[in-house]
Amino acid sequence: MNIVVTGASRGIGKALVQTWTQSTTVPHHIIAISRQTAALQDIATTLAAAHSPHKLSILPFDLSCDNYDLLYQFVVEQVPHIDALVHNAGSLVNRPFYELTDGEVHSLFQINTFAAWKLTKYLYTYMPAGSHILNIGSMGGYQGSAKFAGLSAYSASKAALACWSECLAEELKPRRIAVNCLCLGAVQTEMLRQAFPDFDAPLSADEMAHFIGDFALNGQRYFNGKVLPVSVNTP
Ligand SMILES: NC(=O)c1ccc[n+]([C@@H]2O[C@H](COP(=O)([O-])OP(=O)(O)OC[C@H]3O[C@@H](n4cnc5c(N)ncnc54)[C@H](OP(=O)(O)O)[C@@H]3O)[C@@H](O)[C@H]2O)c1
Repeated sequence: MNIVVTGASRGIGKALVQTWTQSTTVPHHIIAISRQTAALQDIATTLAAAHSPHKLSILPFDLSCDNYDLLYQFVVEQVPHIDALVHNAGSLVNRPFYELTDGEVHSLFQINTFAAWKLTKYLYTYMPAGSHILNIGSMGGYQGSAKFAGLSAYSASKAALACWSECLAEELKPRRIAVNCLCLGAVQTEMLRQAFPDFDAPLSADEMAHFIGDFALNGQRYFNGKVLPVSVNTP
């Protein structure tokens, strides 16, 4: 399967790349996008050395930039179509709303919401019937969930992503492209450590990636337009 994933340099995104490259059923061609790429280069080298059937193409790219033409060109040169597009990249600032600058709020929405919108706009015509767009949301942006002081901009940007997922599913129904949003609870990653240094999450990035990796490739057969909580607990 041909998979595009953002935020692949560390945490859940990197664990997703590792999960897919360990598949023994079908070979995958994964296009991994993030600003830093050293960890991804290591995975690509290991795959090549092991003559793996899986292929990893790496694009160093800042999702807050305007040059999405470059990203589109890279993707279409690598794969003939996309089966799964996973918007996993995310950014978090934990501070009271009155301390956040306009620039910080803009940047959070840029990465957590607009980047998914924009990337989808560029790539959806390259996705066949039966393919899946998966947005990685957060319990903070899940309607009616417990909220946390300091995470207003982050949670609002993820709530927008969740609502957009439902709307996009409607718009893409004629093309039979499914769109879902998984709202994650706490996962032990750099992002969680930054936001809640004293909190121990019940799940590792690998454990969460195991679930998301399978859902990205098969969840569209069971769900469309759904915003689903995937949470053992939250801080
Ligand atoms: N960990 C949790 O407890 C938790 C809970 C709920 C939801 N989530 C969501 O799960 C997703 C993955 O989170 P994580 O915990 O794995 O976070 P993480 O360890 O901080 O990783 C975030 C990823 O996003 C990428 N990224 C950030 N800004 C970017 C930009 N401007 N351009 C391109 N890539 C960018 C980073 O890559 P570069 O820095 O290399 O660009 C990195 O690979 C996020 O959407 C997050 O909101 C996580």
